[in-house]
Amino acid sequence: MAILEIRNVTRRFGNLKAVDDVSLSIEAGEFFTLLGPSGCGKTTLLRMIAGFDEPDQGALFLEGQPLAGIPPEKRPVHTVFQSYALFPHMSVAQNIAFPLRMAGKDEDEIRRRLKETLELVHPQRQGAAFSARTRAARSSVALARGLINKPRLLLLDEPLGALDASCANRWKAS
Ligand SMILES: Nc1ncnc2c1ncn2[C@@H]1O[C@H](COP(=O)(O)OP(=O)(O)OP(=O)(O)O)[C@@H](O)[C@H]1O
Ligand SMILES: [Mg+2]
Repeated sequence: MAILEIRNVTRRFGNLKAVDDVSLSIEAGEFFTLLGPSGCGKTTLLRMIAGFDEPDQGALFLEGQPLAGIPPEKRPVHTVFQSYALFPHMSVAQNIAFPLRMAGKDEDEIRRRLKETLELVHPQRQGAAFSARTRAARSSVALARGLINKPRLLLLDEPLGALDASCANRWKAS
């Protein structure tokens, strides 16, 4: 069964059809890329998968279950935004561990998962606040935060442009 099925999804903003009757299905383990010019509706589609927006027509199914009405925090989906949306007042490690803290995991598990995740994506100087970091460093923190909770679906809205190829390859292989 497809992990994600998008069936005839349309999203309008006034007269504009940002997403026009899109259907596709994605299998578990598949690495699926949406390519298209600016404004063609890529982010709008990702927002509906994540639950930040709902379609005007059509439906989305995760592992066969309809997603309609399920809030983002109840979906096993993590989005890494183009802007990274990191917390500037937290250290790198605190940012990465944030989804586990929100999920109420105990400190032992948080420490173990943090170590595992940092082996895949290793931003330097984990203890430090990262307000002055480069774009590459911030993008690796955002990616690690996306991977730590082992989401069923990881949605990446063009966040990897600043990463070096070896780092991108390590997590793709994992
Ligand atoms: N909340 C909104 N209200 C009105 N129009 C919107 C809204 N969100 C997106 N749009 C419009 O919908 C269209 C699709 O936007 P979207 O951001 O999904 O494109 P995109 O493919 O992600 O573009 P980019 O490659 O620049 O990120 C654009 O014309 C955009 O202006
Ligand atoms: Mg976009």
